Amino acid sequence: EKGTYPHYMLKEIDEQPLVMRKIIQNYQDESGDLAIDPTIIDAINEADRLYIIACGTSYHAGLVGKQMIEKMAKIPVEVHVASEFGYNMPLLSEKPLFIFISQSGETADSRAVLVQIKEMGYKALTLTNVPGSTLSREADYTLLLHAGPEIAVASTKAYTAQMAVLTILASVVGKSKGHLADFPVVKELGIIANAMETLCDDKDRFEMIAREYLSVTRNCFFIGRSLDYFVCLEGALKLKEISYIQAEGFAGGELKHGTIALIEEGTPVIALATQEDVNLSIRGNVKEVAARGAHPCIISMEGLEQEGDAYVLPEVNPMLTPLISVVPLQLISYYASLHRGCDVDKPRNLAKSVTVE
Ligand code: F6R
Repeated sequence: EKGTYPHYMLKEIDEQPLVMRKIIQNYQDESGDLAIDPTIIDAINEADRLYIIACGTSYHAGLVGKQMIEKMAKIPVEVHVASEFGYNMPLLSEKPLFIFISQSGETADSRAVLVQIKEMGYKALTLTNVPGSTLSREADYTLLLHAGPEIAVASTKAYTAQMAVLTILASVVGKSKGHLADFPVVKELGIIANAMETLCDDKDRFEMIAREYLSVTRNCFFIGRSLDYFVCLEGALKLKEISYIQAEGFAGGELKHGTIALIEEGTPVIALATQEDVNLSIRGNVKEVAARGAHPCIISMEGLEQEGDAYVLPEVNPMLTPLISVVPLQLISYYASLHRGCDVDKPRNLAKSVTVE
């Protein structure tokens, strides 16, 4: 039930701090250490490469998850959109393990790949929010997201839950291989939960940003580099699906290779700047679009902020910024949809779970 909330989406955005805490609890053993079923850890350690398969928002979580797994566990990872995998199947490594990410566990495109790789004799792990779902039943192993039912068509808490569970998975595998003993994931995810709460308490600010930048525009661009780029893809998807504004996420460095031609007087450009090593270059990109008339909105992080930033996120571990930088984008999309009179929870032409290929 949505209780006093006007929409499920807003309720689900607000639930994210609680979901983080639930995930930590569910993946802790009696001594408080993070733990994952050892048969899953063994299956991952036996693989020479992981193939993440997903659609939409879950694919975007996979892009971030790849970075976590490669950095913490040092296993190569590829991420593929399920609907394309069959046509453009990569040359598989000798010992692949497949990871399906699906909130619903019912997405037909992902299931088609699961059926295909099972026929080839490979094993699969499913990350899903729905115990007993098709993708969970048909895979060899399951990890649950513990996000609680997600009713709004636009996925919010499942995305952050997917990234949190992937972080835990990456760290437990990393630890089993002797890496990263000093990355305190429980503490860092606790900091994430608190930061999410701060952001959810700042809704007025995000409503104002939506009003200022998005109430009349035809299009909107999201730019970022490194991890921020993946969050830009998700921010653009959120805005498209619930406000019907044409939105695209771009890698900052790609602007000059074509995209910048789209910038007109007043085009909103939302830039994420949460990564120290690319802070100057993304700000350079903002100057380039501003010089061509864009209306830039910079969302940065404590320690990296500059005068004129529209919002400064609380500081979190630099590897985990996607878990909080997406929250303003979710809220900005929510308010843009609301202000434009769209059906927030049930956008046109979309279904919550896509059970046809
Ligand atoms: C976006 C959205 C979709 C889903 C996609 C995959 O807000 O909800 O892009 O992420 O259809 O769905 P699942 O994760 O259920 O496989």
